[in-house]
Amino acid sequence: MTQRKGIILAGGSGTRLYPITMGISKQLLPVYDKPMIYYPLSAIMLAGIREIAIITTPEDQAQFQRLMGDGSQWGLDFTWITQPSPDGLAQAYLLAEEFLAGSPSLMVLGDNIFFGHGLPEMLARADAQGMGGTVFGYRVADPERYGVVDFDDQGRVRAIIEKPSVPPSNYAVTGLYCLDGTAPQKAATISPSPRGELEITTLLELYLSEGALRVETMGRGYAWLDTGTHESLLDAGNFVRTLEQRQGLQIGSPDEIAFSQGWIDATGLDKRISLFGKNAYGAFLKGLVT
Ligand code: DAU
Repeated sequence: MTQRKGIILAGGSGTRLYPITMGISKQLLPVYDKPMIYYPLSAIMLAGIREIAIITTPEDQAQFQRLMGDGSQWGLDFTWITQPSPDGLAQAYLLAEEFLAGSPSLMVLGDNIFFGHGLPEMLARADAQGMGGTVFGYRVADPERYGVVDFDDQGRVRAIIEKPSVPPSNYAVTGLYCLDGTAPQKAATISPSPRGELEITTLLELYLSEGALRVETMGRGYAWLDTGTHESLLDAGNFVRTLEQRQGLQIGSPDEIAFSQGWIDATGLDKRISLFGKNAYGAFLKGLVT
């Protein structure tokens, strides 16, 4: 099987966070001590993926590049792609078709934050499935805000419904999509929904109709935070701050992951540390080297 590639979808208009996002991309906003995009990037890195396409709006691309460069500081290889207008999540597979070149992919939404013991193992299980697709269901109190899983009596997935007014379950589909190499071909057959978007749920329905979609539920030991509203953005920042201060560890640090995966050595990490002066993030990384 060809190596799975990563996609971070970080475009969109961010209107729900106006006026904050009138001048800056949502995925560059701080979530406590790091830019938001560091967290989904970390999830992809924990899956062992180093070849990653980052999709942004044309206006915001330069700012993302200023932050993240070509990825070599983390031993990664970034391909930068623009999405001219926010025409839906499934469009990412059309935009990334050339980058993927038939490879399976793990796509993560640039505003999704995952945290939990066993995340790398969970992603490795999804990767090992090969053909078909795996998505992750997470129990939430407000499923109507998300794509929702409809289970039959035997617990098999019957449908995935985007923002249903009457949710068939409390299980939201998180913004992490592990799909095989046919995703771009499938995405090319989708028509825009009434709201004018190529819906990710329609793409997932295509996998489902082939009997090729698995939904793995993330247990209560995981945190899946979304940052779609002012409240949830602040909550996510507070969550990260609470855990980091209590444990003295970092959540969502590409520097730490790159070093622990052996993608950069101590010299590479030192170079990064020199950028952070005496702040807590730099001090934490210093502790890893010594
Ligand atoms: O967060 C998980 C949910 O994400 C899923 O449960 C839903 O099924 C899925 O549709 C999506 O729902 P959202 O309402 O959060 O989608 P939103 O339009 O806010 O887009 C999610 C992120 O993707 C956001 O950071 C902006 C970015 N985006 C969105 C669109 C529509 C793009 O980069 N390009 C786009 O065309």
